[in-house]
Amino acid sequence: MGQNIVTFALAKGRLAEKSVEILEKCGIKCKHILEPTRKLQLEDESGLYRFIFVKPTDVAIYVERGVADIGVVGKDSLLEGGQDVYELLDLGFAKCRLCLAGFEGFDVNDSRNIIKVATKYENITKRFFESRGQNIDIITLHGSIELGPIVGLSDIILDIVESGKTLEENNLKVLEEIADCSARLIVNKVSLKTKVDVIKPLVNNIEKIVKA
Ligand code: PRP
Repeated sequence: MGQNIVTFALAKGRLAEKSVEILEKCGIKCKHILEPTRKLQLEDESGLYRFIFVKPTDVAIYVERGVADIGVVGKDSLLEGGQDVYELLDLGFAKCRLCLAGFEGFDVNDSRNIIKVATKYENITKRFFESRGQNIDIITLHGSIELGPIVGLSDIILDIVESGKTLEENNLKVLEEIADCSARLIVNKVSLKTKVDVIKPLVNNIEKIVKA
């Protein structure tokens, strides 16, 4: 029985709230896991599902390593981390766009100078500009990326844009869109085989709910 417990890796906040909403619709009684607590590991009422709370950028690491069977993660984190997991569903929430942004009129294709790019998405940035054959200087930050061009630390940023408010209030513009992102359901490759009886119907159920 213990072996058939399915473990979810979730990130606290909106991703977890929406995930719980969907799982409740699937009949998994787990809304209590959203109540304030310092506990990092919780179970649903049946004890068949375990939930571990981790940093958003760590969700796919837990799933790749098999200590969680299923995870809900932003596509941006998945693209950045590049973990070897099955991405089975687009859950349709937490939508945003990965963009290059900066002051209006900045030419991101101008290769006369090495462009300085501030970002928390180092790998995505590297890949993107490498694919263009463009040399850049990456400045890795961990938040408030928009400050980069404002204080002159960088020429542009590569970051997610959700409502666009942060850019607007800092007088910055989207210069180029790189990818559409949203929450994705990921599954460990081995778990999908060994726990297929539980995971397959659950994924089908979630898919129906998301599409409804
Ligand atoms: C994210 C992102 C942008 C902002 C975009 O930052 O890095 O700064 O949200 O959202 P908007 O288009 O709706 O304004 P977050 O709020 O996660 O904080 P951070 O700066 O600490 O990364």
